[in-house]
Amino acid sequence: MPKPCSLLGLEHLSADDVTRFLKLARKMHTPHPKPLLRGKRIALLFYEPSTRTRVSFEFAAKLLGTHTSVISADSSSITKGESIVDTGKTLQALGADCIVVRHPSSGAPNVLARNLRIPIINAGDGMHEHPSQGLLDAYTMLRHKKSLKGLRVAMVGDIQHSRVVRSNVHLLSKFGAQVILCGPPELLPDTAAALAPDVKISRHMEEALRKADVIMMLRVQKERLAGLKLDAHKYVAQYQLTPERLKLAKNDAIVMHPGPMVRGMEIQSEIADGPQSVIEEQVQNGVYVRMAILTACMGVA
Ligand code: CP
Repeated sequence: MPKPCSLLGLEHLSADDVTRFLKLARKMHTPHPKPLLRGKRIALLFYEPSTRTRVSFEFAAKLLGTHTSVISADSSSITKGESIVDTGKTLQALGADCIVVRHPSSGAPNVLARNLRIPIINAGDGMHEHPSQGLLDAYTMLRHKKSLKGLRVAMVGDIQHSRVVRSNVHLLSKFGAQVILCGPPELLPDTAAALAPDVKISRHMEEALRKADVIMMLRVQKERLAGLKLDAHKYVAQYQLTPERLKLAKNDAIVMHPGPMVRGMEIQSEIADGPQSVIEEQVQNGVYVRMAILTACMGVA
């Protein structure tokens, strides 16, 4: 039986670890999954808003037969000044077998993992990582493409503030994909090329999209801009995914977005709802991938 473990990020996982999660997700991709975690208790501790991640972890946990409790920062004793470690210890003392946590500070899940005995799953921490999103994105790519090796993946938009980009880059670089990051200097510093050896930077969307197999569009994270003023008209003119720009990619390119998307800003509705979009499928796959994460981290698979 594998040991319980936390999932704090993808950077330090091996390609074999990632493959194990993806294989497990394929097993979970069935209308009637086995209730492998029957009777366990999962706490969903969310210090930041979330729709996709919170609901899919909750549905995944319930499909596996667990009891779940959602704790949000604005309706718990966190508002009275309780620290994250004390909150975590309280949930552990109440019988939680695992905590799924989203937090605005990078490293907050690591702090919990150091101080608690139960597995901690990172549901997105600051500008650091969003490992379950990285895994579900890879899972979705592999539903449409034979292999990640050699895949040309263009990620366009607010790279600087994106934990989704970090997790995707760490994962894709383990499998030999070619990643091109694209955006304006204020949202994509030159230093982003240091994220992984095969990462390239482009300031021109036309160049980034040429012959791409996968296009991943990203929202401008207004909540993390910290006073930075962005000219929205200029941004739309240079970095919005339009039908004309999409034609530069391969004919069978898929369009992805981790959500939430802002239609009319980074992406036109015609594309978000078009035949090459797999955005809804990403959301659906999130449930299977999160079932895999919960069972693996709780030592059941
Ligand atoms: N992709 C993602 O993390 O979406 P939510 O913020 O809705 O969870």
